[in-house]
Amino acid sequence: MIITIAGGGSTFTPGIVKSIALRREELEVTEIRLFDIDKERQDKVAIVVNWILKEELKTDIKLTVTTDEKEAYTDASFIFAQIRTGKYAMREQDEKIPLKYGCVGQETCGPGGLAYGLRTIFPMMKVIDDAEKYAKKDHWILNYSNPAAIVSEACRKLRPNARIINICDMPIAIVDIIAQSLGIKDYTEIEYDYFGLNHFGWFTSMTHQGRDILPEVKAYMKKHQILLPESYIENIKKNLNADNRHAVSSWVHVWETMYEMTEYFPDYLPNTYLNYYLLTKEAVEAANPNHTRANEVMETREKNLFDGIEQFLKTGEINGEAFYAGAHGNWISDLAIALKNDTRQRFLVIVENRGALPNMPYDAMVEVPAYIGKKGPEVIAQDNISLFQQGLMMQQLNSEKLIVEGAIEGSYQKILQAFTLNKTVPSARVAKQILDDMIEANKGYWPELK
Ligand code: NAD
Ligand code: G6P
Ligand code: MN
Repeated sequence: MIITIAGGGSTFTPGIVKSIALRREELEVTEIRLFDIDKERQDKVAIVVNWILKEELKTDIKLTVTTDEKEAYTDASFIFAQIRTGKYAMREQDEKIPLKYGCVGQETCGPGGLAYGLRTIFPMMKVIDDAEKYAKKDHWILNYSNPAAIVSEACRKLRPNARIINICDMPIAIVDIIAQSLGIKDYTEIEYDYFGLNHFGWFTSMTHQGRDILPEVKAYMKKHQILLPESYIENIKKNLNADNRHAVSSWVHVWETMYEMTEYFPDYLPNTYLNYYLLTKEAVEAANPNHTRANEVMETREKNLFDGIEQFLKTGEINGEAFYAGAHGNWISDLAIALKNDTRQRFLVIVENRGALPNMPYDAMVEVPAYIGKKGPEVIAQDNISLFQQGLMMQQLNSEKLIVEGAIEGSYQKILQAFTLNKTVPSARVAKQILDDMIEANKGYWPELK
């Protein structure tokens, strides 16, 4: 069984490979292939991947590292996709251009997310086409590549028969943080209901061993004014970073907003990303327009990985723990196990609505729980959603749909409408200013807009 990782040079590749290798028996994996368009970057990452497979876990899994599509995908059963079109240099633009105009500067939310979407749609279609051409007929593409909401809408519209499931690790990361905050040892024991769009959803219930834990989560946040485990809060006070990429630097503000959002709207527990839409002004105030999350990531996760590889080449010593991503790699690997072994385990996935949320459009790409087996996701139907959530979701959904339509038609008008409709943007004039700057910054990446 062959698993191909598209975006093999990603900072998440070592963690994902480790999760796969730890599950080698259930996955019956014999070969892992790394595919990237940046040979130099991927070759470096492959050094640590090779070490994980051969030295750390002593597996006999074959490793192939390539920039050739045919070699990458031929006979693959799974493709784990995690490409970042334009890499961190373009993420920095996505975050900094809106902030110049006093708007949210975020990788997947607001104008930055829309811009990233316009860059990613067509490269993702190529991944799908290459997989279709070379991989096993019953292959599955499990896609993390962001912005997953726009990518999944593009898949629905442009490749409706593609064997792709779009996923996100944020809900499970929230569950992990909650488990640690409440002293629950194993976060996978927490069960939950959820609905939304990607990076735009709500937990409607959460239980541990049958006990409703949402009241405890709320009480915990009231006490600490933040949703992070006490040990992390202590580290933050001492200016130390927690050993969790979701709880460092600018992410800390995000976990503070979890408390405020839940105080105002106590019915459900929001996804962290809703802060950009509900506490928009505050998100802009909390940001440093000259130093955004892209800079933080380049100075930490990316630097640590590549410095670690240099160090290994010089000394032969490596700190394996530094490259283990935990929940992120486990989530995608466990999803592959469910598909392959027909386990019918429950996962959150981004799928076409088809009535699962009755008062959302039939063709909306929604993030909802589904049972996963050999035939793919069996989505669990829910009841109508409330007017507040539905109104927010419709605005966001149509903004994202306009990006996909605008990309396909090369329509400046539709892209301007998408930017204007986005809740984080205060006026059409500001939308146009940001868009015009972004067209300049994205030359060579965006389709031509007329
Ligand atoms: P990264 O820049 O370190 O890695 C991305 C890699 O993709 C790079 O090596 C780049 O060269 C490669 N790439 C770019 N275009 C490509 C293409 N067309 N074909 C093959 N490879 C290509 O970025 P990262 O921070 O490690 O993140 C990787 C991706 O995973 C991003 O899209 C990120 O947003 C996404 N991500 C998603 C989730 C989720 O919840 N869905 C969680 C974490 C990361
Ligand atoms: C969460 C989201 C991802 C996003 C990531 C950004 O995991 O679910 O979609 O890519 O955060 O994390 P970073 O450390 O790169 O800011
Ligand atoms: Mn995500």
